[in-house]
Amino acid sequence: AIAAASLAAGAVVAVARVHAGELGGGDAGYGSVLTALTVGLGFGLFLGPRVLVPFSRRRLLGLAVIAAALALVVLALVQNLVVVVFATAFLGVFAGAAWSTAKMAAHDPEAPEGARPAAYLRSVALITALVSFAVVPLIAAAAGSHRLDLGGGVYDAYGTGVALLVAAVLALVTGLFAYRRLDDRRGIPLVPDLRAALHGEIYTPPEQAAAAPQPVHRNRGVFIAFEGGEGAGKTTQARLAAIWLRDHGYDVVTTHEPGATKIGMRLRAMLLDRDTTGLSDRAETLLYAADRADHVANVIKPAVDRGVIVVSDRYVDSSLAYQGFGRGLPVEDIARVNAWATGGLVPDLTVLLEIPPEAGLRRLPAPADRIESESQEFHERVREGFRALAEADPDRYLVLDASRPQGELSREIQYRIREILPDPVPLGTEDATSTFPVITDF
Ligand code: TMP
Repeated sequence: AIAAASLAAGAVVAVARVHAGELGGGDAGYGSVLTALTVGLGFGLFLGPRVLVPFSRRRLLGLAVIAAALALVVLALVQNLVVVVFATAFLGVFAGAAWSTAKMAAHDPEAPEGARPAAYLRSVALITALVSFAVVPLIAAAAGSHRLDLGGGVYDAYGTGVALLVAAVLALVTGLFAYRRLDDRRGIPLVPDLRAALHGEIYTPPEQAAAAPQPVHRNRGVFIAFEGGEGAGKTTQARLAAIWLRDHGYDVVTTHEPGATKIGMRLRAMLLDRDTTGLSDRAETLLYAADRADHVANVIKPAVDRGVIVVSDRYVDSSLAYQGFGRGLPVEDIARVNAWATGGLVPDLTVLLEIPPEAGLRRLPAPADRIESESQEFHERVREGFRALAEADPDRYLVLDASRPQGELSREIQYRIREILPDPVPLGTEDATSTFPVITDF
């Protein structure tokens, strides 16, 4: 996909000077074409991650490339400088959007150490652009200019136009191929999918909707936990997710561990105060579990039973990572104690924000609490622990690289939360539950 987008943009740059000249544009025409391309690219880069947010990024990437190739077809065939400038601007927008979308789609926080998908994409784009700078003018020269008699009139086929058309066809074929390979919603028709995305929805074909099991959460809310090491930005992201959910009319309870209840606050003080010395690892584990038991019984469970969406900053996985992997206690034992403490309540989704400990700890305001002031190795083990937990249960986790821009992270989180949201309660039953307001346009 990136090769096709880069070929389309590269071909324009390669012959823009001569092509603008053929159309009687001279230097001013050449300048306009390049400006249109640059402005278009900039606009597309900005738009890529922001348009059609519920729409599959992989589909969008394929479509953007095909659109860029089609813009190049127009540019190659229409011999009018104004049309060429506009087509170039559109080409730029689509190629720019393809680039930023590809970077997003290629980003894989679970990629092995040393894998650099963005660097790979950059190389592909650069090499394709260089090859097109070299080859497209040669094709133009080889093709030469011809006057075609089209019956009703004549069409002057300039060498540059022919070369641009060749590049466009190549980009189009590559784009179509890329679209098919990228498509992660195969079998779902494109037009309704696009139309739903324009309304901010994810399209479900009627037959799938009918076949889908009744929502599991009919009478039950949703429980989302945010996890991660120190300074990963969980608190911010949890808050943003809650604001977004409330904006869409859902009842949301935001909470955190440790210390969301009255007893919990006292436990938190004991657990995090640096004056607490000599606390054994097992006692620490049990105090966190005690806080959690109180939290589940008095906050989380009642809210979930009312049909509310609960967003918690930390939950059981923090104990598994910190006390299990960090302190070196047996993880299965901690899991067992916590299963008992929580009555087996497991989040529907756990968002893990991943950050190297040194970067995370740098973000924190001083002074550090009892856990934050543990060694670098401790925090390294915690990080590994979270990763291992996520790998063991990938369906429940959304793993994100916390160093990415805040806006991008929230959008990915929203995208994932949408998948587990309960259907808004049908109009007739709203009065009975009074938990979800009517949402007709979500
Ligand atoms: P916070 O900084 O997110 O408020 O969390 C408080 C600290 O408690 C943090 O350093 C992580 C630690 N912690 C555990 O060690 N085990 C747990 O089970 C929880 C919930 C937190």
